[in-house]
Amino acid sequence: MTTASELPSLRLDATREQVLERATAIVADAWRSFDTARPEQPQIGERLQALLRAELPQAGSSALGALEDAAQMLDVSLAQPRPRFFAFVGSSGLEIGVLGDLLASCFDVNLAVWAGAASEVEDQAIRWVSEFIGFPAAAGAFTSGGTISNVTALAAAREHALPGARRTGVGDVHGALYCSAEAHYSVVRSAELLGLGSAWVRSLPQDDHRRLLPAATAAAIDADRAAGIAPVAVVATAGTTLTGAVDPIAGLADVCEERGVWLHVDGAYGVAAASTLSAGHLFTGLDRADSVTLDAHKWLFLPKACGVVLVRRREDLHGALAHEEDYIPHERPDHHMVDITLEYSRPFRALKLWLAFRAHGADAIRAAIERNLGQARLLHRELGRHDDLEPLCGEPMLSVVPFRHVPSGVADLDAHNARLAQALQEDGSVWISPARVDGKVCLRPCVVNYRTTDDDVRALVELTRELGTRLAR
Ligand SMILES: Cc1ncc(COP(=O)(O)O)c(C=O)c1O
Repeated sequence: MTTASELPSLRLDATREQVLERATAIVADAWRSFDTARPEQPQIGERLQALLRAELPQAGSSALGALEDAAQMLDVSLAQPRPRFFAFVGSSGLEIGVLGDLLASCFDVNLAVWAGAASEVEDQAIRWVSEFIGFPAAAGAFTSGGTISNVTALAAAREHALPGARRTGVGDVHGALYCSAEAHYSVVRSAELLGLGSAWVRSLPQDDHRRLLPAATAAAIDADRAAGIAPVAVVATAGTTLTGAVDPIAGLADVCEERGVWLHVDGAYGVAAASTLSAGHLFTGLDRADSVTLDAHKWLFLPKACGVVLVRRREDLHGALAHEEDYIPHERPDHHMVDITLEYSRPFRALKLWLAFRAHGADAIRAAIERNLGQARLLHRELGRHDDLEPLCGEPMLSVVPFRHVPSGVADLDAHNARLAQALQEDGSVWISPARVDGKVCLRPCVVNYRTTDDDVRALVELTRELGTRLAR
């Protein structure tokens, strides 16, 4: 007979089948609700507010009740998979990816070191995503996102430019990074964390299409070298967060090759579009980069977190990050992932991308990206049809289309557009974030969701004009 003390602890008050059935119903409801736009963003009601004030529960309560409360909390949270979520660079919570997360959590593999087939799946997913974008990666790893991928790649670049810096620090030597004025903040953060210092991030001029100028980059590198400053890396942004500009990678690769400088491509948002017919040409030269950042939780539609860092030579990451510890011996050096990543405990993020490629195939994923590109062009055309709307950039390179409402008779357009962004969020039927382009406050929609339809894009234009006109009265 089994005694009470032999039973596993932490058992729920409902059967596994009951909790799974409830969880499945919650997910199915959510997926149904993501199929179409909803009329408003609901508020956090009194009952949930009271729950949020509760003290630490010392004793457990109904698991089904707790799941129900979690579902209600999520329903009043900002869910990026909704088709009219145009803020930031969102994600879509691709359904097969959600299942991948569930399975990965269930088996709770740790990819710090070799973990059986899961390690091979991670390798395969790295090979597949590299092929998808056209980058000859010798190695790579899944990360928590673009920020960590950029820090990881730039750690390798620092060791490449300043051998031994990981041990001695950079000392009196200054090492510089070169990027466009529109590069993501994580480049500055990398400089801060890697001991280079943010003062040595050269934020360089852009051309008329907001792309980093290779000639200006070459001049900055040469001037630094002449002054005894060590160039660590050029960061080409392949899809800037603010406007979606893609820096000229081939031209920057020439500059880097001539000078022996590391080229990192931050494609966290945009590089997935390298796979497409209509935008692929923007990424010419990608195959010449030393390292690439890609966020599968952005334009490969997967749930967060699913970042990827890719390198041409595994030894570059290894040289920057590998180490020997008694508690984690090198039993399988080829899969000792703590040697090439910043993390120890590493969830099985690769599974969801592997499943997405298996279940949908590269063609369907590419077509979904292409559809978003078309919707960004549609949005730009729609803006051109109305005198009271002003696009702040030319034809979109990718899928960010900054614009503002410019009704006649409004003197302070910045204040008007800031109020409009707030009014749109209060309305809640579309979700959009404000931004500032060339000093002008604007709305900055970004289309990276496979659920978004052309009608959703038109609805954004209509609602902006309707609320904007009302505010301008
Ligand atoms: C170009 C670029 N790089 C890096 C990042 C940071 O990625 P994450 O938020 O996954 O850390 C972003 C995020 O939007 C981005 O657009």
